[in-house]
Amino acid sequence: MRTLRSLLGAVALAFGLGACFGDVSHPQGGDGTPDGGDTCAASSDNDAVRLALAPACEGCHVNGNKPFFASLAAFESGLVYNERFVKRGDPEGSVLVQMLKGTAPGSYAQMPPGQPYEQLVASGRVTMTISQVEAWIRDLKAPPAQLETPSPEEFRVRRLSAEEMVVSLMDQLGLTLEDFVSTSNPDWRNRAYVVNWGKFFIWPGDWSPGISGEYVSDLRTVERFEALGGGNSLAYRKKDTTFGPSAGQALVQVSQAWCGRAVDKPNNKAVLRFVTLADTSTKNPDAVQKNLRNLYLRMLGQPPDDAELKALYEQVYLPLEAQSARLAWVGTCAALIRHPLWITY
Ligand code: HEC
Repeated sequence: MRTLRSLLGAVALAFGLGACFGDVSHPQGGDGTPDGGDTCAASSDNDAVRLALAPACEGCHVNGNKPFFASLAAFESGLVYNERFVKRGDPEGSVLVQMLKGTAPGSYAQMPPGQPYEQLVASGRVTMTISQVEAWIRDLKAPPAQLETPSPEEFRVRRLSAEEMVVSLMDQLGLTLEDFVSTSNPDWRNRAYVVNWGKFFIWPGDWSPGISGEYVSDLRTVERFEALGGGNSLAYRKKDTTFGPSAGQALVQVSQAWCGRAVDKPNNKAVLRFVTLADTSTKNPDAVQKNLRNLYLRMLGQPPDDAELKALYEQVYLPLEAQSARLAWVGTCAALIRHPLWITY
């Protein structure tokens, strides 16, 4: 079950904490509220370097198989005290420095790929210079003894990535690729394949199927994915780890469109598990309540408390039901997708 702390983190997230987001659940004021300005304060030299490099790196290294920037612990165990990347006291021999200079041996000569680190310094995107990184490595302290010990303090909330949003939405709403594209056609890979124009299909520009413009004949599928914060490795586009206005807008539209598809899809029990569109709050109030409770659990992974269920019913479901039962379920489903518990992980 999520804690109040994670909820506060989720709320802070909605206002976009940028590079400091990995730390929102950490420093708090005595009254339990996030302490605003101090949230970004570095807790050590290593943390200061992490926060300084983050704008250049975290777009690709906050999750995935090299999540160096997910937390201080990840930064220290994955990068700082990994001899492959950082040799204590020897900046010239450290691959990390070579990567910043674009001279590292092996497949990854330069980080970030495609854009010299010096340029990021020059443009003010990052403030830490390469010589400051070198000085830090020269004086780097020995690893802390507890480096390998899991710490309960390291629990973090982050926004769902665009990939996670697409995959979990399809799953939760009982939708498949076939609801958007015509995979049943034997020749589908070679055809312009969007079968449901205007249905808000979303697909990463670098996932298969979809690598060429021919596959994704509706270019907006990729644009929407990027609006949700998704990256595109083929275009060197970093994922956006914050949750900004464009992600919010895209999620509003996709939640409404996809919930509509889920409700309209024949025999789909994802949204309408215990009711049909003939059941209403007057005709079958128990079924409506049961379905609301179930939908909340399905979308958010925990049962609602009574007050929250009541608010959802009175503020979202009922006003829409006055227009139609279909609209009420589409709206309730979409509201749950914009809930802080849904957006965060
Ligand atoms: C545009 C995306 C992107 C950005 C930004 C980026 N990286 Fe990477 N990085 C990658 C990819 C892709 C790989 C290799 C794939 C993998 O193993 O995950 C990688 C691998 C690495 C590795 C491991 C290399 C190896 O030999 O295993 C290190 C270390 C690294 N990056 C550090 C950084 C640092 C430090 C920054 C910021 C200065 C940064 N990266 C910025 C995409 C990026």
